Amino acid sequence: MLTAYDYPTALAIDQAGIDSILVGDSLGMVVLGYENTLPVTMQDMLHHCRAVARGARYALLVGDMPFMSYQADVADAVRNAGRFLQEGGMDAVKLEGGRERVEAIRAIVGAGIPVMGHLGLTPQSVNQFGGFLAQGKTASAARQLLEDAFLLEQAGCFSIVLESVPDRLAELVSRRLGIPTIGIGAGAGCDGQVLVTHDLLGLFDRFTPRFVKKYADFYEKMGAAFDAFKADVEGRAFPSKEHTFSISEDEWRQFLAEVE
Ligand code: KIV
Repeated sequence: MLTAYDYPTALAIDQAGIDSILVGDSLGMVVLGYENTLPVTMQDMLHHCRAVARGARYALLVGDMPFMSYQADVADAVRNAGRFLQEGGMDAVKLEGGRERVEAIRAIVGAGIPVMGHLGLTPQSVNQFGGFLAQGKTASAARQLLEDAFLLEQAGCFSIVLESVPDRLAELVSRRLGIPTIGIGAGAGCDGQVLVTHDLLGLFDRFTPRFVKKYADFYEKMGAAFDAFKADVEGRAFPSKEHTFSISEDEWRQFLAEVE
């Protein structure tokens, strides 16, 4: 699984045969420039979901429910989840949290909407965690995460993202659950892996989490392309003949006769 927020990225991920695309609320940070994911709205999410849905044909499309679209009220959670399918073109939704989300998950699944859970470092709770910190690192936190995973499975989740948790814990949870786990910063023992595409491509300028493998340095490449464009325009090397339209001699002479 990889994240996408726009048409061309979705197209490329789909063509690469990646099973699933997450329109993550990480778009708040890597595309919209916010400090965290909390300011992201339903409108933001649906706008980007539609663009991704236009680019992807084969991948399972999962839309990330933004902060406060499912926490306050179960009926609201169902309605907002429905909008991801009806207006956003998604196949499923993802939401963050454990036992405190069971009621909302049951109701959304009850409405016929597949739900992916998300445990461990759930970025919408960053203020409660005191930062983007790894979770499940004590015996009691690990036990609580395992219990939460069982509860999400029983509530009807078809899969669970495990983010920034110790590899041994993620592997044990993955073995014990009947549904697949998708890891990010959770080691190789999960059933699948997800990364934020902008991290993988080296497109996010601010920081690279330790668990990210950078497969390209697009930020640097982008800068080099912009420098080259600027130099070409200033040096009159661009546009050249091949990038330019022409008008026939006859038409040009006629035009000049009319305007001179
Ligand atoms: O928003 C997102 O991109 C996510 C992934 C990090 C799993 O939730």
